[in-house]
Amino acid sequence: MSLVKRCRPRRTGGLPALLVGTLALATGLAGGPASAAPQDTLHDLAAAQGRYFGSATDNPELPDAAYAEILGSEFGQITPGNSMKWDTIEPVQGRFDFTKGDVITDFAQQHGQTVRGHTLVWHSQLPGWVGSLPSAQVETAMTDHITAEATHYRGEVAAWDVVNEPFNEDGTFRTSPFYTAMGSDYIATALRAAHAADPDAKLYINDYNIEGMGAKSDAMYDLVSELLDEGVPLDGVGMQAHLAIQYGFPYQMQANMQRFADLGLDVAVTELDVRMQLPADAAKLATQSSYYGQVVDACLAVGRCVGITIWDYTDKYSWVPSTFPGEGAANLYDDDLAPKPAYDAVRTALGGEPGGGDDGGDDGGDDGSTPGTLKVQYRSSDASAGDNQIKPGLQLVNTGTGAVSLPSVTVRYWFSGDNGATTYGSWCDWSPLDCSTVTHRVVAASTPKAGADHYLEVGFTSGSLAPGASTGEIQLRLSKTDWSNFDESDDYSYGTGTSYADASKITVYAGGDLVWGIEP
Ligand code: G3I
Repeated sequence: MSLVKRCRPRRTGGLPALLVGTLALATGLAGGPASAAPQDTLHDLAAAQGRYFGSATDNPELPDAAYAEILGSEFGQITPGNSMKWDTIEPVQGRFDFTKGDVITDFAQQHGQTVRGHTLVWHSQLPGWVGSLPSAQVETAMTDHITAEATHYRGEVAAWDVVNEPFNEDGTFRTSPFYTAMGSDYIATALRAAHAADPDAKLYINDYNIEGMGAKSDAMYDLVSELLDEGVPLDGVGMQAHLAIQYGFPYQMQANMQRFADLGLDVAVTELDVRMQLPADAAKLATQSSYYGQVVDACLAVGRCVGITIWDYTDKYSWVPSTFPGEGAANLYDDDLAPKPAYDAVRTALGGEPGGGDDGGDDGGDDGSTPGTLKVQYRSSDASAGDNQIKPGLQLVNTGTGAVSLPSVTVRYWFSGDNGATTYGSWCDWSPLDCSTVTHRVVAASTPKAGADHYLEVGFTSGSLAPGASTGEIQLRLSKTDWSNFDESDDYSYGTGTSYADASKITVYAGGDLVWGIEP
């Protein structure tokens, strides 16, 4: 059973009409350009790339009509945050209550969504009676639970997190009633029971802090390799991806996903959110946007990454503030259900146009330019990503309705200096604007990042750009003063396209405010 369902038929005006209304009400921007413009949903964009884009949800949230409207229209997959867990489904041994889980599957059916079942075997949210059982009875209790639940949801749950969070941070197995009774064999036993109950469901092992390379993901890799060798029914690995900007982006996420995919397994991002220390500000939200974008990039780069689920879509219903006091703002939509910059970052990474993510910052430049009125397009004029020069071709386009004064605008192309000299030369080789009006210099980033410890800053000494007009091509070039080689392949702004296309990883500023792109 595929988790990617067909794109829903587009409703009135592309953006589901009710969603337009909801966003307009929620943001107080009735008829503003972001909410009025027809656009694909996040799931539509993901589905066009062969993936799903989903959200967790929970029963107490569904009576919130504005919330439910967005949940039902923007996302193609949902995961119950709590209502399919053991303590809800089987609070007393042998007494099953599927009421809350059924509300979730009903919602999904009404909205043409698939469901990831979460979760059959977990050390947490486990009713007390399981931990009180004599060891010899735990295996039967576990397989009975799995059999009853997976049978009940057969045909309605497309994928199960059969086993959740089996590892400690150091890669040793986590102690739980199941591990104590059966050792690590409980995992194979659980997977076999789930497969017997629902042979069509995709079966996953799910954990957090396994998104990047490290001891815990190595342990998961060893476990799933062994299970596959033994012929245990296992379809995928779920990477929860509860990220935090203060801890950095997971190390080599794409390569890590790929190694699981190379074993023949699917990979899913199952619980994505990106928290920060409060209060949020534009810089933190920009970093958050970059993290969300990088997760989407990693998933799209790995053929067997089947989709992304965010751990609820709005800060209004996030689990973060109660678990990490002082932290929050982790989701794509804010407390008022208005999309945040990260929402646009996800849209852009999925190949769509930005769709209304508000950075909460200054909305007007002194020169009359406003955020969203400029964009930059890029092509690589560089035949080699490993030689001693970087050659970006850029053109700036005025997408707004007023003229933009070019001296108020700067553009940053982000790259890594790699080894060798730390001083640079830069050139404008050609432009219909006349290169004598184009300024360029290499600046060391104040917060160096992998692939982005410097940027080429491009500016203008004169001129203005009429609505709809483009500067035309600006052929730029830079090198180190010792002419040592670069490795451009991991540079933040680098791309291989040879014709001009919108470039969200090249940033544009008007009057000093970020108006286009996502900073690294
Ligand atoms: O249902 C009771 C309610 O009756 C009571 O009044 C209230 C008082 O605190 O608590 C309610 O239960 C809460 C439950 O969510 C339902 O809202 C629990 O206290 C609370 O601990 C529980 O938190 C959930 C958490 O798992 C528990 O570990 C979060 O909602 C849920 O989002 C979170 O999800 C986990 C994934 O399953 C696994 N990965 C990590 C992720 C985040 O922690």
